[in-house]
Amino acid sequence: METTDIIFEKQQQEIKNLRKQNLKLQRFYDEYKKVCRNEEERVKELNCLYQVAQCVVMENNLDEALNKIVCIVPFGWQYTKESSARISFKDNTYHSSDFFESKIYQSEKILIEEQVVGAVEVFYKPDLSLELKDPFLIEERNLLKGIANIISFYLEKQRDKENRKLIQQQLLHADRLASIGQLAAGVAHELNEPLGNILGLVQLSLKLPKMPDQAKKDLGKIEDCAIYSREIIKQLMEFSRQSSLSKEKINLNEVIDNGITFLEARCIKNGITIVKQYTENIIILADSNQLKQVITNLTINAVQAMKNGGKLIISTSKDYKNAILSIEDTGIGISGENISKTFMPFFTTKDVGEGTGLGLSVVYGIIQSHNGDIKVSSEPGKGTIFEICLPLEEN
Ligand SMILES: Nc1ncnc2c1ncn2[C@@H]1O[C@H](COP(=O)(O)OP(=O)(O)OP(=O)(O)O)[C@@H](O)[C@H]1O
Ligand SMILES: [Mg+2]
Repeated sequence: METTDIIFEKQQQEIKNLRKQNLKLQRFYDEYKKVCRNEEERVKELNCLYQVAQCVVMENNLDEALNKIVCIVPFGWQYTKESSARISFKDNTYHSSDFFESKIYQSEKILIEEQVVGAVEVFYKPDLSLELKDPFLIEERNLLKGIANIISFYLEKQRDKENRKLIQQQLLHADRLASIGQLAAGVAHELNEPLGNILGLVQLSLKLPKMPDQAKKDLGKIEDCAIYSREIIKQLMEFSRQSSLSKEKINLNEVIDNGITFLEARCIKNGITIVKQYTENIIILADSNQLKQVITNLTINAVQAMKNGGKLIISTSKDYKNAILSIEDTGIGISGENISKTFMPFFTTKDVGEGTGLGLSVVYGIIQSHNGDIKVSSEPGKGTIFEICLPLEEN
């Protein structure tokens, strides 16, 4: 009897031990499953990051790249089927397929030079039963940061590419204008002398006694035409920087005020408000008459572009090196097709007799001869801005 009891007790002990071991094994197995699952998640995340990186390397078109990236993003998250993603950049948004928005989400900013330009977000379905307060893993937070960084890098690269293209276009444009300038200078020079002779002889002939009335009238017309042609030649010479400069220290705001006094009455008549936004004390070394000419040509164009009234905003400012003058109007604007032609001599959209198309080429020539720079930007139907940079007078 005693021995049976001992055997029974032994068996009971063994069963206990076996249960313990079984429990241990179960725990090991759970741990192993968790590690495998974590490994799987990491592989998914790395794969997602790799594909996003591939997109920015392979895709040149920004919209296409962001559309592809946003569709890849949910595949990096543990509940892929219950996830959706959105990328916003400036005024555009890109959505993953079957997009939905919910209150369970994570978001990362997209930055360009430390400025926020957009965001990338991941949403989880609201009915996803999650025991955790924070449903997103730390790794997923890092993954989203990584994706946002890749997008930021891509956007910066795209912007640099655009800037490079713009600079190349500007150089090409400046080159073309320089060639036209040389040609214009040659022509103007050749015509100047015979034209001077024509004008001189006509004026002498007009003084002859007993000149028949008809001949006097005709000579008068010849004189008018010669004066008009001389004016054009003068403008061509200014464009090609052939006219001499008389530079002095001038206060930019004062020159602007002088340049626009004649225009004020016309603005009031046409329902145009002049808004001045001046920074005080901007001193530059310039030919005040030529600069006045620049302001006149630009403001007349602005007024002509606002037939139904509007605003003419004249602002001055400066940075450490340059004075900046901007003349902005709320007029008809310039079409994309015409904007690159605006500084070309004889380019005009105005009726015969209303414009010769030399105003802006003269402005361009004057700004170049002052070692400055001029840029135009415009939105058809909204308005135009001309921005001029001129070196500040150094003390
Ligand atoms: N502020 C502006 N708004 C809209 N279009 C403009 C503006 N300034 C210039 N333009 C466009 O650029 C063209 C060229 O301007 P530019 O001043 O050289 O010549 P123009 O005004 O036509 O003639 P001109 O000045 O010789 O009398 C204009 O005909 C017009 O189409
Ligand atoms: Mg003009």
